[in-house]
Amino acid sequence: MAGHIGKSIIPSLRRLCGRRYFSNQPRTVTLIPGDGIGPEISVAVQKIFDAAKVPVTWESVDVTPELGPDGRTRIPPAAVESMNKNKIGLKGPLATPIGKGHMSLNLALRKEFNLYANVRPCKSIEGYKTPYEDVDLVTIRENTEGEYSGIEHKIVDGVVQSIKLITEEASTRVAEFAFEYARANKRNTVTAVHKANIMRMSDGLFLRCCRTAAEKYRDIKFTEVYLDTVCLNMVQDPTQFDVLVMPNLYGDILSDLCAGLIGGLGLTPSGNIGADGVAIFESVHGTAPDIAGQDKANPTALLLSAVMMIRHMELRQHADKIENAALNVIREGKVLTGDLGGSSSCSAYTQAICDRIVQGD
Ligand code: IPM
Ligand code: MN
Repeated sequence: MAGHIGKSIIPSLRRLCGRRYFSNQPRTVTLIPGDGIGPEISVAVQKIFDAAKVPVTWESVDVTPELGPDGRTRIPPAAVESMNKNKIGLKGPLATPIGKGHMSLNLALRKEFNLYANVRPCKSIEGYKTPYEDVDLVTIRENTEGEYSGIEHKIVDGVVQSIKLITEEASTRVAEFAFEYARANKRNTVTAVHKANIMRMSDGLFLRCCRTAAEKYRDIKFTEVYLDTVCLNMVQDPTQFDVLVMPNLYGDILSDLCAGLIGGLGLTPSGNIGADGVAIFESVHGTAPDIAGQDKANPTALLLSAVMMIRHMELRQHADKIENAALNVIREGKVLTGDLGGSSSCSAYTQAICDRIVQGD
C-alpha cells in the first residue's frame, strides 16, 4: 500500500538544519512522555516504532519543573543534558498553568533550545471526512519571541503592559527557513501573514524581513496577506494556501484553525526546529486529564509527529511505513478511537497499526 496517498502528509525537514543522519545507525532520542494522556500515547508510539523496527532508542526524561539555586523554576538539568546530547526529542502534552505559576514548559523548552521555527503541516486525511477536502498547507510560526516574549508588567493598578518583541534576527531566520522549507518540499508559494497596517513597527519589521528573504528565493512565489483576511479566506477555501509564515501568536491561532480543517489537534503533527539539527517534535493537543489512564486517547498526533521526526533523521522508509499503516487504519475506519467517531481503545488502535506494519501494508 506504500504511497497510496501520493505525497506524504508530513513533509521532510531534513536539509534545513545543517545536520545529517544516516539510516540504520541507531540513534538515541529524548522522550518527554508528558502529563495526562502523555504516557499512554508515548507507549503507543514506542510499540509502533518497535513493530516497524525503527533504529532509535529512547531516553525518557521527566521535565517536571524544579526549583533552581536562584529560586526560580527550571527544567531539570538531566532533561536539558539529555536533549543537548541527543539533539532530537519527542514530547507529549505538558500541562500549562493558566495566568499563574511557572512559565509554560512548552515555551521554556522552545527557548532553552532556541527552536526558532515551528512547523505544522495540515493535510486532509483520506477517510476522515470534514467539511474541507484537499487541504495541503503548512504553517511556519516564529517560535521564540513576538507576543510570547513573556515581558509583561504592571504600570499602575488596573494597567498592565505586554511587550511584543520582534527582532530582525529572529524574523529573518524564520522567513528564510520558510523559503528553504518550500524549496526542499517542492512547494510553490510562501505567504507572510501579518498586521503591519496596525502594528506598523513590529509586524512592519517582520514583513520587511520576509520581503528581503523572498528576494533570495526567486523560484518561490511570495505573497503577503493580513491575518484577518487569511482567516476569512482560509475557511472559505483553504486550498488556495501553501506555506504560511508568521509571528508567534498568529501562528498559534492559525495553526489551530488549520488543524480544525482536517480533523483537529488529535491528527496534526508539529515540529520545533532549531539550529544545528536540534529539534523537538510534539503533539499539540492538551493533556486530556478527563480520559487520562483510561486507554481511550488517540495517539495519532504524537505518532505523526514521531514520523516527522524520523523523516528529519533521514529514516524515510520507516517513516513511510508507519505513516501509511496509520493512515490506512484511519481510512479503513474499523478501529478508531472515540474522538474519531469510533469506539476502540488506544491499545486496539495501536495494535491495528502494528499489525499492518508487520503484514507489510
Ligand atoms: C501550542 C500550544 C502552546 C502554545 C501552549 C501549550 C503553551 O498551544 O504549541 O500551540 O501556545 O504555543
Ligand atoms: Mn496552540
